Amino acid sequence: MQIQDIFAAYKDDMQQVEKHLDKYLSSDVKLIPEVCHHLIDSGGKRVRPLLLLISSRLCGFTGEQRFTAGAVLEFIHTASLLHDDVIDEATIRRGKTSANNIWGNAVSVLVGDFLYTKAFKLMAETGNIPLVQLISGTVNSMSEGEVFQLMKCGDASITEEEYLSIIEKKTAVLLSTACAAGAILSGAEQDKIDALDRFGAKIGMAFQITDDTLDYMAKEQEFGKSIGKDLEEGKLTLPLIFALRNATSVEKDKARDLIASKGKDEETIPVILDLIQKYKGIDYSLQCAAKYIRDAQALLKIFGKYPETNQLYSMAEFILARQT
Ligand code: IPE
Ligand code: IPE
Ligand code: MG
Ligand code: MG
Repeated sequence: MQIQDIFAAYKDDMQQVEKHLDKYLSSDVKLIPEVCHHLIDSGGKRVRPLLLLISSRLCGFTGEQRFTAGAVLEFIHTASLLHDDVIDEATIRRGKTSANNIWGNAVSVLVGDFLYTKAFKLMAETGNIPLVQLISGTVNSMSEGEVFQLMKCGDASITEEEYLSIIEKKTAVLLSTACAAGAILSGAEQDKIDALDRFGAKIGMAFQITDDTLDYMAKEQEFGKSIGKDLEEGKLTLPLIFALRNATSVEKDKARDLIASKGKDEETIPVILDLIQKYKGIDYSLQCAAKYIRDAQALLKIFGKYPETNQLYSMAEFILARQT
């Protein structure tokens, strides 16, 4: 099953999510909808709302609140991107000029805050306390992950364990929440909520690992973001962490100096790429992502054979193979 087939099966539901996104973005302060529409209308994959719609259907929930919750997840994701592009000094996002590059950092931060707080307001209005608890914990974890990442910026001795902890907090939790939210809205049994939560967490780990390999490998046109950005920022991700672990001490010292120069030294990119290639850092990372995906898929067993189980299985495959 292709990702397009899954989107086709949820076309009407997704249109409802889009309508909710549009409705909740209105504000008398015109800069808010302007900035939000710039980003939200520029073609994100909508992975998080889609996961929520599938998990809702899997657990038998067909109420209106799934559209609100879908919009809430996309708002949180969008807010995190607005803030992330400020921190990372990004120039392009989704193939277009990034908001920070058009309107500046202050606007991006404040509109990001608008989206986070709008998401909380909408969640509170549902009156669904378990959902509010889940989502508030998630956003808190995302902030923690970003700060941890910042602390490790430029640190060539970052361990794989620390890297995994960062990506769990900053990325995996939101995918985990997207999957668990459908089960929570349905009032499903705890074992189903837990299985979907764990499924989402594992595909979320794979999602960030593939993103970090794509940062080295992707075509900018397809990826819609600048390539080699992580290294430029001094952000060490799995392909390089693995290569450094296996490198000789001479190679390590050289890499450490280049990382500290934050890509300003023109040798940086070629030397680091050679190191990653020599020690097969990309292969290792993709194997690691594949392991998360297989573990995630195994968790779906308790649901039995339904179209939605298949769709979640295929979402996991998509995350591993994605180029965008
Ligand atoms: C990008 O997420 C940020 C990461 C967590 C890697 P997506 O790849 O889901 O971004 P869009 O929404 O499709 O642009
Ligand atoms: C993911 O980190 C950021 C969020 C969780 C917002 P990245 O910095 O790798 O994301 P991209 O590559 O800019 O999308
Ligand atoms: Mg970034
Ligand atoms: Mg990235």
